[in-house]
Amino acid sequence: MIVKSADFVCSNTQISKLPPATKPEYAFIGRSNVGKSSLINMLTSKKGLAKTSQTPGKTQLINHFLINESWYIVDLPGYGYARISKSKKEEWNKYIRNYLEKRENLQCVFILIDSRLEPQKIDLEFCASLGERGIPFVITFTKADKQGKVKTDQNVAKFRKAMLAFFEEVPQHFITSAELQTGRDEILNFIDEVNQK
Ligand code: GTP
Ligand code: MG
Repeated sequence: MIVKSADFVCSNTQISKLPPATKPEYAFIGRSNVGKSSLINMLTSKKGLAKTSQTPGKTQLINHFLINESWYIVDLPGYGYARISKSKKEEWNKYIRNYLEKRENLQCVFILIDSRLEPQKIDLEFCASLGERGIPFVITFTKADKQGKVKTDQNVAKFRKAMLAFFEEVPQHFITSAELQTGRDEILNFIDEVNQK
């Protein structure tokens, strides 16, 4: 798929104020700092579209971007170690969970996993929670440029193995680098196929 246009639409904390659920939508989620916003910029080839930062907790709202005037990418706040108060964290969790459960046009969630790390409990639990709720998702390993292919492949294999404790079949995965544009075509083709269903 060719991305001809990518435009910021709105930022929200309230489900009631999201754009009408009339176009297919894909949400990007994962731990703070895993590279969600960078991946969105890489997919759209628009550097400043989603705000990125070295400091975890940059994205704090549900951000909608309209692609080719026909489908949405959604950038979500990260879960995990962002330095925010407990009450704020609970508030985020509540509206993100609400969004993931209620959004009718949500086709698939991209769960981003740092390819440099051994399987993390918080990521496995997040995958399990989507699985339990029947929310479709795929796994996206990020920052593959930060180490050799062997290491990435080892961590991918470990994560997939750890997922077998929760799932009979492990969902599809992508290996990406926002720096090198790795995985771009694969993800855009995947979205294209889902859009056509
Ligand atoms: P929050 O919004 O805070 O949850 O973070 P995020 O998941 O949106 O991460 P973001 O895209 O802001 O990236 C975090 C940091 O990782 C930034 O310093 C990025 O430049 C860096 N980064 C993201 N993706 C890659 C990648 O593929 N390769 C490398 N080398 N660095 C990356
Ligand atoms: Mg972000």
